[in-house]
Amino acid sequence: MRNVLITGANRGLGLALAREFSSRGHGLFLVVRRFDAATEMQIEFPDAKLLCCDITAQQYEQQLRQFLQGVTLNLLINNAGSGSSGSSVDSALCSQLQREFDTHCKGTLATVKAALVSLINSPQAMILNISSRRGSMTMQAQGAAKGAGCSFSYRIAKAAQNMLTLCIADDLEEQGVVVAAIHPGRMLTAMAAADAQLTAAESAGRIAEWVSTKAINNRDYLCVETGKLPW
Ligand SMILES: NC(=O)c1ccc[n+]([C@@H]2O[C@H](COP(=O)([O-])OP(=O)(O)OC[C@H]3O[C@@H](n4cnc5c(N)ncnc54)[C@H](OP(=O)(O)O)[C@@H]3O)[C@@H](O)[C@H]2O)c1
Repeated sequence: MRNVLITGANRGLGLALAREFSSRGHGLFLVVRRFDAATEMQIEFPDAKLLCCDITAQQYEQQLRQFLQGVTLNLLINNAGSGSSGSSVDSALCSQLQREFDTHCKGTLATVKAALVSLINSPQAMILNISSRRGSMTMQAQGAAKGAGCSFSYRIAKAAQNMLTLCIADDLEEQGVVVAAIHPGRMLTAMAAADAQLTAAESAGRIAEWVSTKAINNRDYLCVETGKLPW
């Protein structure tokens, strides 16, 4: 049995990934932050193991470590994410920046730290951090996000998460863990951008196909719609 851990699994891309990997016979380890969501997920996925915790909470790393004791993980998908408003100096708030950093970076690092033993126990483990095109420093420098209305805090947090992805990729390379960032495309979810056009199920299907065909390499930054992205 190949096991996958997905954070933010109760809706949007996370739920689509849970459905996709479940249909492909993977064992599911799911992190959600609301009890009602955990109950609903347990009904849809009776064999899944559910951890109910906010990934920014102080006790999260320790709770996840206990949750994964004795488990071998083949795949970790850091998917949980949130958006903010504030796309100008005037409207961007420091409190939003802190929240997005905590979710996309602190939560991602806590998840990887807690899952590390479980990942290293697997001969071919993979960590996928769900990033965004808006985290690309190269594209930002080329003006790709100018005027698009995406918040400062989201762009900054995703860029920081990309750096975290590369730091983890360096560190775990010798242990054979593949670490990559994926922009899941402009999806029609609660977090949809104005130009969204892809369903979460379509995005999840393409990501799962890449995983199963071993199409993802260490340090890749991939876009579900267009292929490789520049960091
Ligand atoms: N939608 C897009 O077009 C798009 C584009 C690029 C990248 N992304 C990225 O794709 C990922 C999934 O986004 P989505 O579109 O599926 O968004 P979504 O529908 O809003 O789902 C976000 C999920 O993350 C969970 N979450 C957020 N903060 C959390 C926390 N602190 N602890 C635990 N769970 C938390 C939410 O839980 P609750 O239900 O409890 O809120 C929800 O399950 C995100 O990382 C996002 O940045 C999305």
